[in-house]
This record gives sequence, C-alpha cells and structure tokens, in this order.
Amino acid sequence: MTISVNGRALPLKVDARTSLLDLVRDRLALFGTKKGCDHGQCGACTVHVNGRRVASCLTLAAKVNGQNVTTIEGLSDGVTLHPMQQAFIDHDALQCGYCTPGQIMAAVACVAEGHATSREQIREYMSGNICRCGAYVGIVTAIEEAASKMRAS
Ligand code: FES
Ligand code: FES
Repeated sequence: MTISVNGRALPLKVDARTSLLDLVRDRLALFGTKKGCDHGQCGACTVHVNGRRVASCLTLAAKVNGQNVTTIEGLSDGVTLHPMQQAFIDHDALQCGYCTPGQIMAAVACVAEGHATSREQIREYMSGNICRCGAYVGIVTAIEEAASKMRAS
C-alpha cells in the first residue's frame, strides 16, 4: 500500500491486522500519537485521515491505502506552531501531556467541523477525548481561542 503521512508518500507493506496507530508508532516512529486504551474510548490516538479525525487504534492501516494521514508531528509547518498547539501552551491546557496530541488533533477537526462555536458545544464535541489529569477548563479555553484565530486566518 501507499499512504501519505504528513505530506510524504510512503510505500509500505503491512500485515492486514495492523492498526493505523501501530503503523504510525511502531513502523514510522511517530511517537506523538499515543496509545491509551487501544479500544476507541479515550481519544489519545486521534489522527486525521483526509482532514477528518479518526481513532487510529480502531482504524486498520490497510483501510487508509491511498489516503492522507496527518499526525501531531505534521500539524505545524515545522517553524511556527499551529494556533491550536500555541493555545494549549498559552492556556496551560495540560498536566502530564499524555492526552494532549489527541486532544489537539481532535480540537483542530472540531473547529473545522464547525463544532466549536460555544464552550458547551466544544465540551460536547470533544467528549471523546479523555484527560485523566482533568485539564478540561484549560482545554476548552484553548480551543475557544484557537477557533477564533483559525476562523480569522
Ligand atoms: Fe485509541 Fe484510546 S487509544 S481511543
Ligand atoms: Fe494528563 Fe490529559 S494532561 S491525561
């Protein structure tokens, strides 16, 4: 199969049972994407496939053949942080940071979907991303701020 990961087309041979999460972490050494529950319940493994958020632990790598995958490593241009990354820093929207890459990828998609127009809506549409440290107040504030910047750009 060939998939584009963070803008690079990669020819790969994968076992049919391999999850997208194991592919990006174990084969491509993109360790930003985290394995939390491995059962689709925590959101730590969230990546984008063709711009849409998916739980990579529940997605077979073979299913993304020919598609564009973006992980947290591909979110910024390599020089300037994405507004969502910057907002998470500015608002202390993390403690241990384990859930953070998944939170940020989900948050970017949440804004793109038009589901970040109020704090209540952000909470609802980010409810699939669990933060065991309870950094939710900062997370919602960061998304609110980044959303206005993303809409303005
Ligand atoms: Fe995928 Fe928890 S590791 S949802
Ligand atoms: Fe620790 Fe969210 S910052 S789990």
